[in-house]
Amino acid sequence: MAWKRWFSKRAIGAINLLRGRGKYFDDAEEKIAALIEFKEANNIDLVIHTGDYTALGLEAELKLAKELVAPLMTPPQRYVTVPGNHDIYVHEGNSHYRFSEQFCSVLQNDLPEYCRGGHWPLIRLVGDNVAVIALNSSKPNPIPWHSNGRIPREQLDALEEILQDPRVKDRYIFVMTHYAPRLENGEPDTKLHGLINADDLLEKCKAVKHGAILCGHIHRTYQLDLENMNCDLYCAGSATMEGHEGFWVYEVEGKEMKAKRVFWDRETCTYCF
Ligand SMILES: [Fe+2]
Repeated sequence: MAWKRWFSKRAIGAINLLRGRGKYFDDAEEKIAALIEFKEANNIDLVIHTGDYTALGLEAELKLAKELVAPLMTPPQRYVTVPGNHDIYVHEGNSHYRFSEQFCSVLQNDLPEYCRGGHWPLIRLVGDNVAVIALNSSKPNPIPWHSNGRIPREQLDALEEILQDPRVKDRYIFVMTHYAPRLENGEPDTKLHGLINADDLLEKCKAVKHGAILCGHIHRTYQLDLENMNCDLYCAGSATMEGHEGFWVYEVEGKEMKAKRVFWDRETCTYCF
């Protein structure tokens, strides 16, 4: 990478990795291989990834991440993803394109007429009964102490329309984005780290009759009941960060969904319920 491009937030991120944060991801490749085995053993129909494949958003990192998760992305219509803030880390003009270039095969949109900027919102209709609506809340954050996000107003307006669409509204609906609209304790995240317009997202999601909101960004797997809403919040946590490994498996039957939490078993190096 050209040396000039290190004069950015990326230099601080790289120092953090070298000073110790990176070691928590030493076994990431082994854990991703275990994820692939888990998917096959449990006949998972659809994989949902809420972002942060990389640390510094480098093209080389994105390429490696894609290579590692490729078996999870097969078939591509059964994999839905959004970028995390680390994947479009600093503003270089082409940060979003770089993510899309690597993950274009899984950015298929079943209702592209709702796109309001790039690929988003991305809607995937799964079977007769499930819909996934993916909103992109990540943006480059050039200031080192900022890692917050926002769902553009156009995407939230589109969400409102999508939730009234007869092809979607009676399905079980997963609304997914990178940033968590609420923390585990029910409070909003901080202004510098959280979803700036979390309340607007929750307001729009009140129209969901049966569904769940899925997020990432926070490195803990948790579930939260949302008051006066028909959808709970599920944070994926981190599938590969040492000490925080986890994710969710959702079983949808009609209008009912059962969520099962998955843990990492260090002894057997496998994921299990
Ligand atoms: Fe994040």
